[in-house]
Amino acid sequence: MIPERQSPAVHLPVLPKAILEHGFPADGRVFVDGTFGMGGHTRLILEYFPGIERAIGLDRDARILALSATDFNDPRLERVHAQASALGHVLEDRNISGIDGFLLDLGVSSYQLDTPDRGFSFMRSGPLDMRMDTNAGLTAADLVNTLPEDRLVTIFFRYGEERLSRRIAAAIVRRRAESPFYTTLDLAETIVAAFPAAARRSLGIHPATRVFQALRIAVNDELGELEKALEAGIAALNPCGRIAVISFHSLEDRIVKERFFSGAHPCQCPPTFPVCNCHKKPVLRLITRKPLTADLEEITTNPRARSAKLRIAEKLL
Ligand SMILES: C[S@@+](CC[C@H](N)C(=O)[O-])C[C@H]1O[C@@H](n2cnc3c(N)ncnc32)[C@H](O)[C@@H]1O
Repeated sequence: MIPERQSPAVHLPVLPKAILEHGFPADGRVFVDGTFGMGGHTRLILEYFPGIERAIGLDRDARILALSATDFNDPRLERVHAQASALGHVLEDRNISGIDGFLLDLGVSSYQLDTPDRGFSFMRSGPLDMRMDTNAGLTAADLVNTLPEDRLVTIFFRYGEERLSRRIAAAIVRRRAESPFYTTLDLAETIVAAFPAAARRSLGIHPATRVFQALRIAVNDELGELEKALEAGIAALNPCGRIAVISFHSLEDRIVKERFFSGAHPCQCPPTFPVCNCHKKPVLRLITRKPLTADLEEITTNPRARSAKLRIAEKLL
C-alpha cells in the first residue's frame, strides 16, 4: 500500500499570482481564508500584504488545520474549525465588524486526497468516508448503501456528469443487496465492472473518477455550502473589500458567476420594461468578467490548476 503522505508542504496554492494581484485590497487589514487547507494561500497573502493585522483560517477539517500548524504559524493568524458558511458567527464571536478579503479555494486538498483513511481516493484502499468534517454528517458508504437507486442516478449524473449513471447505480444496488460497501476499492471495483470494456478503454480517466467526485460533492453538500458561504462573505465585506473564489467544477463556477453577476446587476425588472422599476442597487463590482485560469507553466508544475477558475468581485456599499 502507498504510505500516507505526511509532509505538510504537499499542497501548492493555485493561481497565486492572480490572487495576490487582484484578490485582496492593498490597504486591507482583515483577511479570512474560508477554505484554509494547508494555508498555502494565506501564507502568501500574509507575506505579500504586511499591513494585514488579522487573519482567520476556516476549515471544516480539523485534522488539516492541526497538520498545517506544524509547518506554518503567524502571530496574526487564528485557525478556526468551522464551515465557510459560518463566517458571520465566527466574526461575531470575535467582535469583528467587517473584513477586507474573503477567499474560497473549493474542493479537497492534496493531503485529503492522498490520505487513504479519509476515503476520497479510488486508487487507495480506505474506509468509504469522504467527509471533510469527520465529526458530522453521513459518509459516502451511508449514501451508497442506503439511497434509492434513482437518487444515486441523479447524484452521479448531476454532480459527476457521468453518462453511465443508470448502469453504475444499478450495479451498486445489485451488489449492496449481497453485502454493503465498506471500502473505497470495493466501490471502485464495482464501478469499473459496470463499464463496458470498450467504454473503459476509450475513457482517458479512471472509470470511478466521476462517481467519486459526485459522491464527495453530495456527502459534503458542497454546492449548498458554497451558496451560503458566498452570502456570508459578501455580507461581511467592508466597502472595497474583495471576495475571490477558485472553483474546479462547472456547477460551482456557475453558482459563483450568477451570484457575482446578480450582485453587480441586481435589477429584476422584466426585459420588456423600458426603465428599471425595482430600484435594486448593485452591491458588487466585477473585477473579473471572465474567470481567470492557470497558464501552461503553472499547469505543468501543479496539474491541479488545470481546471481552476478564479472569479473576483469587490464590495461596493
Ligand atoms: C483546495 S483546499 C484549500 C487549499 C488552500 N488554499 C491552500 O493553499 O493550502 C480546500 C480546503 O477547504 C476545506 N473546505 C472545503 N469546503 C469548505 C467549506 N465549505 N468550509 C470550510 N472548509 C472547507 C477542505 O477541507 C480543504 O482543506
